[in-house]
Amino acid sequence: LSTASHSPLRALAASAPGKLILAGEHAAVYGRPALVAAVDARLVVEGGERAERGIDIDLSDLGLRETTSGAALREYAARAQERWRAFHDDPTPQRFRELRGDDPAHLVKVALGETLLRHGGAIEPAWAFRVVSKLPVGSGMGSSAAAAAALTAAAMRLLGRPADLDEVETLVRETERRQHGSPSGVDGAVVLRGGVQWVERAAEGALRLEALPSPLPLLEEIRVLDTGSPGQSTGEVVTAVRQLRAADPARFEELLDRLEQATRRVRDALVASAASVASAELGAREGAALADAIHDAQRGLEALGVVPPEVRALVRRIEGRGGAAKVSGAGALHGPGAGCLVVYHPHPASLFVGGLIRPESLLPVRLGAPGLRVEERA
Ligand code: MEV
Repeated sequence: LSTASHSPLRALAASAPGKLILAGEHAAVYGRPALVAAVDARLVVEGGERAERGIDIDLSDLGLRETTSGAALREYAARAQERWRAFHDDPTPQRFRELRGDDPAHLVKVALGETLLRHGGAIEPAWAFRVVSKLPVGSGMGSSAAAAAALTAAAMRLLGRPADLDEVETLVRETERRQHGSPSGVDGAVVLRGGVQWVERAAEGALRLEALPSPLPLLEEIRVLDTGSPGQSTGEVVTAVRQLRAADPARFEELLDRLEQATRRVRDALVASAASVASAELGAREGAALADAIHDAQRGLEALGVVPPEVRALVRRIEGRGGAAKVSGAGALHGPGAGCLVVYHPHPASLFVGGLIRPESLLPVRLGAPGLRVEERA
């Protein structure tokens, strides 16, 4: 990109990985820990200055292109803040639908608008963005957190500010609230920092991350199976779970305890596998512990109502073959798909026998990828 006077305009690429929740989804919304891996499929935002005022947004994957203005994006984000406060005070499915609206570029507009409100002063930018994603949308791989992270970082850099991770995280958190209602914040925290992270809520409400050691032999044995897009958004599923909690708070706390225990056991099995490389016998013990923990996590998620019958039946068939599987991410309330499944089997080839799992439904992702990257381009 260049101006008429040939002074180079800034251009950059900001990218963020997707994420896969190994354990602790939903419970994380209520302050319980989660174990989350960044995945090596990334979402890239190419951003730069353009000759005329205005902001050009090209969402190539959605086949959407729109030119808007900084003023319009600030106003969009400010209105979304108001709707979010209304949802926060009265978190019903109806309020969530009002918050979310039906603009397919909602998240993009909120991310850019929030960044301008916080860091842009009164400037009217001349920017162009193109979003290109290798992440399956709505499969629980964190495409919204990755988009919010990469867009926020790109806009901050174009505003001449460093894309400081804590600062970007604050804005990603706000954007995720407008998108999902009451997110835990774990998705944003992990796509920014990468790796495999144990994420805990600290006393003051902030998230505390602890990277797991690397390499973890058992992590390499985990497969990711795509069951198809959930019929409901993350925000809808989280809102339904919140209503379950309101109906029976004591039972809900018990469920959270159970999910937290399973999450801790998934972590412990993975970490123990680092020490077990020298002994096949010990490796088998950790594998069995991992399968057990995944089984329990799945039962907890079923009790939350986020595993539709079709997906539950598939999990039972995997278990019948000696493996274990659990929903990863929000799951679904009904319909055939529930996003990704985390699958473990000591001999995964046996899952292909008789077509129980088709090899092409396994996603070729590696867990523990790097976090946010911003590269300036000439
Ligand atoms: C979504 O990726 C995970 C949930 O736990 C929601 C959240 O943590 O915000 C379902």
